Amino acid sequence: MDKERKLIIAGNWKTNKTVAEALDLVTALRRELADVKAVDVVVCPPFTALESVSKAILDSNIRLGAQNMSENGYGAFTGEIAAGMLKEFSVGYVILGHSERRQYQKETDALVAKKAAAAHAANLIPIVCVGETLMEREAAITEEVVETQLRGSLAGLTSDQVEKTVLAYEPVWAIGTGKTASSAQAQEVHAFIRKVLSSMHGDTTARRVRIQYGGSVKANNARELMGQPDVDGALVGGASLELRGFTDIVKNSI
Ligand code: 13P
Repeated sequence: MDKERKLIIAGNWKTNKTVAEALDLVTALRRELADVKAVDVVVCPPFTALESVSKAILDSNIRLGAQNMSENGYGAFTGEIAAGMLKEFSVGYVILGHSERRQYQKETDALVAKKAAAAHAANLIPIVCVGETLMEREAAITEEVVETQLRGSLAGLTSDQVEKTVLAYEPVWAIGTGKTASSAQAQEVHAFIRKVLSSMHGDTTARRVRIQYGGSVKANNARELMGQPDVDGALVGGASLELRGFTDIVKNSI
């Protein structure tokens, strides 16, 4: 596939996998995906498995991501994980503002923006998630919602930082439901996101930002989704928990 932006496919394991299970999966992924060069492949295990997974993918083409981090550095922040702690395990990416955290931990756009700035300051690439709920889509306010989330969650970042940021469009109604946005629906919102980015930081920056789609991505819909001009990868939940599910998505996207 001939795109100006390299595809990036990340597995978000959410709150799943013991250390032993994580090691099994990533060892097999490493073997199965050893030849893949056209796609950046990232796995995002829970914090507890970062160290083991990090060792298991040493000198491979698989990169490591975390699922969240603190907006603060080291200090008295009980229960939090600082960017510097992630760097100890060669983490390169961090998912921020996932809809589950927005919903259950009440994360706001302003907080996500602080976390994104802290991630960039530590040379971590944030994967910033945005997306509308079913109610918002049915009320025909998808664009307003996504634009507000984008502007708020990227507030204060420089154009250079925005360019390095990965965005993930994850319609909440498509997460874990088996309902995927059609490739046309995904493309429409991705193009809109790029338009908003362009108005915030200019065309060149907007053209360089990679925008993943997330929400019930499976082997059988990956190719069509990745084939859309503004879809630059996937953030995969459920299907990334199994070897075949994830490797087939990667292979079908190339
Ligand atoms: P599913 O692929 O399970 O729908 O989850 C998507 C997601 O939330 C990835 O971050």
